[in-house]
Amino acid sequence: MLWAVLVLAACLAGHGSMLELSLDSDSGNVQWVVENQNGSISVPGRVPGGVYSDLRRAGVLPDLLWQDNDVATRWVSYDNFTYSTSFQVRAEHLVTRAANLVLLGVDTVSFVELNGRPVGATNNMFVRYVFDVKPYLKGGLNTLRVSFASAVLAAARRSARHYAAPACVPGVYRGECHANQLRKMQASFAWDWGPAAPGQGLW
Ligand SMILES: *[C@@H]1O[C@H](CO)[C@@H](O)[C@H](O)[C@H]1NC(C)=O
Ligand SMILES: *[C@@H]1O[C@H](CO)[C@@H](O)[C@H](O)[C@H]1NC(C)=O
Repeated sequence: MLWAVLVLAACLAGHGSMLELSLDSDSGNVQWVVENQNGSISVPGRVPGGVYSDLRRAGVLPDLLWQDNDVATRWVSYDNFTYSTSFQVRAEHLVTRAANLVLLGVDTVSFVELNGRPVGATNNMFVRYVFDVKPYLKGGLNTLRVSFASAVLAAARRSARHYAAPACVPGVYRGECHANQLRKMQASFAWDWGPAAPGQGLW
């Protein structure tokens, strides 16, 4: 069962019918690639999923739960990862009144581009985003890029502008600070019951 999907919907003019193209990895329609900022890492990505899982699967990361690997792998959360994919749209399907890109779960701070054109930005892991892509969608191959910013650095930037206590989790958690600045799963910056893994990705 897919509990988080990425859907491209086109309402066919006058008919009230909808055409949906799933961009989930399991749909078989697309292959996602995830890259870090300087391009030293480029591995298959999964949607729904996240960067820690993708890097673990690709052998870039060791087991996060072994010894102090949660801290040793923390560099991941300070890098900025881009998820990208390409998908085909049939020219006859472009004769529609609307074409929306629906992102059901974006973790968290990102910039979304279709065919090199900006279509939207996100900063909340808990809401669904619907972006109008009618002007940018084309027949043939389309390229979608979701460029994430490090959530840890984004939270620190916001805190510098408008501080809100508490700043950090207790030191013994070996976590990250300013989780309360973002609408993102707070435990991902560490909690008493679990290590920090402040991820990025389409969950
Ligand atoms: C590229 O990024 C990786 C991961 O953040 C880092 O380990 C590496 O040193 C960087 N390489 C360069 C040339 O900056
Ligand atoms: C991620 O982006 C931030 C903001 O642009 C930058 O300060 C930081 O150095 C980037 N991280 C890496 C590993 O390139």
